[in-house]
Amino acid sequence: MTTMKKENILEVDNLRVNFKTPDGLVTAVNDLTFDLAQGETLGIVGESGSGKSQTAFALMGLLAGNGVIEGEARFEDQNILTLDEKAMNHIRSEKIAMIFQDPMTSLNPYMKVGKQLMEVLLLHKGMSKADAFEASVKMLDAVKMPEARKRMNMYPHEFSGGMRQRVMIAMALLCQPKLLIADEPTTALDVTVQAQILTLLNELKADFNTSIIMITHDLGVVAGLCDKVLVMYAGRTMEYGQTEDVFYRPTHPYTKGLLEAIPRLDGDGEALATIAGNPPNLLNLPAGCPFQERCLYAEDRCRKEAPVLEEYQPGKLRACHKPVNWEVAS
Ligand SMILES: Nc1ncnc2c1ncn2[C@@H]1O[C@H](COP(=O)(O)OP(=O)(O)OP(=O)(O)O)[C@@H](O)[C@H]1O
Ligand SMILES: [Mg+2]
Repeated sequence: MTTMKKENILEVDNLRVNFKTPDGLVTAVNDLTFDLAQGETLGIVGESGSGKSQTAFALMGLLAGNGVIEGEARFEDQNILTLDEKAMNHIRSEKIAMIFQDPMTSLNPYMKVGKQLMEVLLLHKGMSKADAFEASVKMLDAVKMPEARKRMNMYPHEFSGGMRQRVMIAMALLCQPKLLIADEPTTALDVTVQAQILTLLNELKADFNTSIIMITHDLGVVAGLCDKVLVMYAGRTMEYGQTEDVFYRPTHPYTKGLLEAIPRLDGDGEALATIAGNPPNLLNLPAGCPFQERCLYAEDRCRKEAPVLEEYQPGKLRACHKPVNWEVAS
């Protein structure tokens, strides 16, 4: 079989985010390396505080003032981590769009939804008002907004949570970004609406060939949506590879723990396994592997020596001294 090598639109090398705090330096993102081809979807998974959002903010140039970035992120062959504000604004308005967890933080409550959508096109695409209106209606249709034309004249509070998230997705896609970063776009929504939004993202990915970075704490979410998965813990990569490998043949005890915590749709009320304990304090990391205190497989070496990230098979990265072989029935 010959496989055509897809061209990467994003290549991240040893991305590191340090925050200067009164208590010391916090390394929220620790040497992340991943890449993304056009039309590909990468899931970034990990518990609260693992550095998922800071990874996204670093790529978008939206880090807090006390954050310092190291490493490289080549987007269309340009390192976007060193661009000035003007160049970054251009990237954010034309090339990379982001959807946040709570759509109300990004929608203006006092402005009609239609006007907010149209502004994107008037500002960045120089369209006429009439064209911008029609393009906005069309995009609302594309994100399956019922009665799109009528809703152009409504305010954000007149929309349900799921519909507001659809508006956010529509807004993000209006400029036809090459890359869409979605930071927990469905966590605030109930399970049914969550599923609808994920289906929608899946369809849009096919229609627009947009690359997506999908950030979530739920490995279940990535199964149906993502081509690749990066499992993060305490700012580091634990495991990275194609979804089918990470999902059905995980080898890192942390990935295994996350998988066992996924609610099964066919479950009969069985209690879910959770990973005992909590992620470590970044200011006070344990010696050795950051996960060792919670790991069921940890041995002496894990408590002394941090495992290095290695490419143990082509395209598969892992940082672990005691990988497990764990086949999940697919
Ligand atoms: N401005 C800051 N100064 C110091 N530390 C920060 C700052 N911003 C974030 N952090 C720390 O960086 C770490 C990673 O945060 P991040 O928001 O990326 O987590 P996350 O994986 O997105 O978690 P969640 O699932 O809760 O959204 C956290 O420990 C957080 O406290
Ligand atoms: Mg977050």
